[in-house]
Amino acid sequence: MDTSRQSYYLTQKKPGSEVSAEIAAALAASSIVFRKIDDRYSNMLLARAKQVFDFANNHRGSYNDSIGAGVCPFYCDFNGYMDELIWGAAWLYKASNDQNYWNFVKSNIQSIESSIVVRNIKGFKVLANGGSFSEFGWDSKHAGINVLVSQWVMNNPSNQSPFVPNANNLICSLLPNSPTKSVTYSKGKR
Ligand SMILES: *[C@@H]1O[C@H](CO)[C@@H](O)[C@H](O)[C@H]1NC(C)=O
Repeated sequence: MDTSRQSYYLTQKKPGSEVSAEIAAALAASSIVFRKIDDRYSNMLLARAKQVFDFANNHRGSYNDSIGAGVCPFYCDFNGYMDELIWGAAWLYKASNDQNYWNFVKSNIQSIESSIVVRNIKGFKVLANGGSFSEFGWDSKHAGINVLVSQWVMNNPSNQSPFVPNANNLICSLLPNSPTKSVTYSKGKR
């Protein structure tokens, strides 16, 4: 890569909940990968994931404001950091089975369902519903949250909404023969 690789840091006074919660999600997911191979390392990853999640959640703020030109104009946080906090909590629940993280997911999911997001991509304004089921990227974690959480609410009708319907919509927007397919495929040349 020929772009600048400058690094930045966050503090309690200059927080960045979206990037910290994303790191917590990655650490929690990694702890699952290592659980059977190296239990000590797995526990260390999980403990650190919890710490980083607490940092993200207890010192809420956008890295937009703390890092400024380091992330904007391109990697601005357009849709807020609640989706990343929920994403982090969902992975922490999967990794730890700690009910508090599941409660966090359930009690906050509605807050990201209804917001409207205006994203500026290469000079074009793109409008997206905050609850967009098909988005998954640096800004929006919706598709990931829905697919991940569907794993454990699948057989529990009272907890399925909005995760399972949204995950179904995502898959139906991707499958080649789906009537609601909305993506285009490359030719897949070798
Ligand atoms: C981050 O900056 C962009 C561009 O100015 C703005 O649209 C967005 O609302 C900001 N996000 C937050 C969470 O402040």
